[in-house]
Amino acid sequence: MQAEVDGRHLRDTELIAFLVLLFVAGNETTTNLINHAVRALVLYPSEQRRLRERPELMPAFLEEVLRWESPIQGFYRRARKDTEIGGVQVEKDQALLVLYGAANHDPAKYECPAEVDGARFAEETGTRDHPAFGAGIHYCLGANLARIGSGIAVGLLLERFSEIKELEGFEPGGWARRSSAGRRAFVVSVTAR
Ligand code: HEM
Repeated sequence: MQAEVDGRHLRDTELIAFLVLLFVAGNETTTNLINHAVRALVLYPSEQRRLRERPELMPAFLEEVLRWESPIQGFYRRARKDTEIGGVQVEKDQALLVLYGAANHDPAKYECPAEVDGARFAEETGTRDHPAFGAGIHYCLGANLARIGSGIAVGLLLERFSEIKELEGFEPGGWARRSSAGRRAFVVSVTAR
């Protein structure tokens, strides 16, 4: 490894810690994005049909899924200085829970935020104005990897199965954890080509 921080190479322990961070940050999040995308396809069959007809909409569809059910609902942060957010005074060193998931359901910004809205991914570009990957200098390092990987996975599912639909009588479980949003269980019925 050639990387240096402040003129010195990373120690082995730092490298290993970074690798662990990459595995943790990249694994469950991407798994949950794929899961949410499949759930969106099942709950909104007309959007599934549209995506089958226009596979070029996949990147924009995934942005809407990221907004709809953000795989990371929130992170703790500490204020570095006194500030004001949305009319609320925040003091230096105060702990904050920044809820990306709540921002992504802000009715002032998104009409019918709890719905997957085909209009929001009607064009190939879609919208990346959601904070599902955070913002600023700590913006997710793996955002584009997650986008590419999930697009391939969901695209392959659509290719291999002519229909993906709800399994009758199956109740999807609640979220397994609060911070990392993924269902405990979600089973679908598929028709192989
Ligand atoms: C759908 C998948 C993913 C989602 C929703 C997601 C979400 C996030 C969020 C919300 C943050 C915090 C950003 C902030 O504080 O402003 C973050 C940071 C991070 N993510 Fe991801 N992530 C995903 C996939 C990945 C992947 C695939 C990797 C790497 C292989 C990765 C590596 C990281 C790292 C290293 C950070 C810390 C960046 C920093 O502090 O500078 N993430 N991610």
